[in-house]
Amino acid sequence: MTPVPQAYRPAQIILHWVVFAAIWVQWLFNEPIKRTVEAIQTGGTPASGDATMAWVHVGFGTTILLAVLARLYLRSRYGAPAHAPGIHAPGTHAPGTPEMQAKIATWMHRALYAALLAMVITGGLTWNGVADLGKVHWFLNILLFALIAAHAAAALFNQFVRKDGTLQRMIPALKK
Ligand code: HEM
Ligand code: HEM
Repeated sequence: MTPVPQAYRPAQIILHWVVFAAIWVQWLFNEPIKRTVEAIQTGGTPASGDATMAWVHVGFGTTILLAVLARLYLRSRYGAPAHAPGIHAPGTHAPGTPEMQAKIATWMHRALYAALLAMVITGGLTWNGVADLGKVHWFLNILLFALIAAHAAAALFNQFVRKDGTLQRMIPALKK
């Protein structure tokens, strides 16, 4: 068994924010790859600008894949810190993050990894013409967005309302 670390390793933190940045690129630049796929599927020729930008989407998507695989490797090799110690659960005398909240956080992190991998797989199969999963890719993106919004809101709530130092784990500079 890997001993539970006290903090995320710098590589884990850097990769977390690399994925965050790359996802913004995917959200901002996806119209050209949609037009490119449509042109190919209808026997047309994509505009050259669209084809170039399509490769940007594929490139950043591949970056996300590599970063997620590296993160899963680091996690299995070195583990991840237990959820923040937190304040007392309301209405109980138990110290630490309420058990239900810790469970939700664990499942939220698993769901985020799964959604990212599913995005890459459905995007890759569509791009390579193996299967037309553009609609699934679109739906998964909405799911991913909802997960990220809830995850970010939880991180901010824990940091600034519960004041348990959660955000400092991913932004060490926040440490006093
Ligand atoms: C692209 C969007 C994001 C994705 C896909 C994402 C994904 C993840 C994942 C999978 C973990 C678990 C890491 C592990 O234990 O292996 C994590 C942890 C964390 N993330 Fe994010 N995240 C995103 C954006 C954000 C944002 C915007 C914030 C801050 C507002 C944030 C704050 C945190 C914090 C504080 C942790 C550590 C939580 C803990 O130790 O319990 N994340 N993130
Ligand atoms: C987490 C990573 C990714 C995100 C967040 C993302 C996001 C998006 C979004 C928002 C769209 C537009 C969906 C729509 O409005 O219909 C899209 C389309 C597309 N993406 Fe991604 N993408 C990711 C990874 C990838 C990867 C790795 C590939 C290929 C290797 C890829 C290939 C495509 C293709 C081919 C389309 C056009 C689908 C169609 O119109 O049929 N994506 N992506």
